[in-house]
Amino acid sequence: MSSLSSPLVACTDVSKSYADGDQAIVAIGEVSMEAHAGQVTAVVGPSGSGKTTLLHLIGGVEHADSGSIVAAGVDLGELSSSEQTAFRAQHVSFVFADLNLLPVLSIYENISLGLTLLRLAEPEAHRRAMSALDLVGLADRAHRLPATLSSGERQRVAVARALARESTLVIADEPTAHLDHDLALEITALLRRLAADHGSCVLMATHDRAVADEADQVLRLEDGRRTH
Ligand SMILES: Nc1ncnc2c1ncn2[C@@H]1O[C@H](COP(=O)(O)OP(=O)(O)OP(=O)(O)O)[C@@H](O)[C@H]1O
Ligand SMILES: [Mg+2]
Repeated sequence: MSSLSSPLVACTDVSKSYADGDQAIVAIGEVSMEAHAGQVTAVVGPSGSGKTTLLHLIGGVEHADSGSIVAAGVDLGELSSSEQTAFRAQHVSFVFADLNLLPVLSIYENISLGLTLLRLAEPEAHRRAMSALDLVGLADRAHRLPATLSSGERQRVAVARALARESTLVIADEPTAHLDHDLALEITALLRRLAADHGSCVLMATHDRAVADEADQVLRLEDGRRTH
């Protein structure tokens, strides 16, 4: 695990704009930040402030226009799009509120699918999938189809998928959206556990103040700029 003195993610003066007709919308403007292994970093700010954009840049989904991002020892600015794909497969797990579980696969199979890119031996993949489901309290529902779970349970499957991959970097975009207060805190506790037990660096965008209060570090964006 990295020491606190060497961040797992370091962004320096990162900017990203989108074209809107002949205008440019600055989604992220000269943002610098660091995030550490074993910690949860919350990204907060109003709708449209750039949270998702920042997470996509750090997760290797999109390229920044300028500035530098180093994540898990990789300089993301240098990557071709196939290298970006390899970076995501090797280092990143995504947790979304509206997660894409395949409806015809059981939750166990959905989690196993997330492991195929890691090319694990079958017994190791099985062990990881079952222990992740156990950790989120769903081992007894492993054979169920997603449609037969409650929305909170489905969200726990999304966290289990990240747990099983044991990724260095976990990127969670509004992982507690649509959940009631208790469930939101439950999911947040699971993400904290992912950071503490696996030493993952968890980056989480959230609108929920109670969820952000649980983070080790809170980064606030307004109009694409960091305000603290
Ligand atoms: N693909 C895109 N094309 C054009 N503009 C975009 C695109 N993605 C984001 N934007 C714009 O960039 C800005 C930041 O969007 P972003 O999705 O990062 O905000 P957010 O903080 O995640 O908002 P929310 O809380 O609503 O999810 C917004 O003005 C948005 O309209
Ligand atoms: Mg967003």
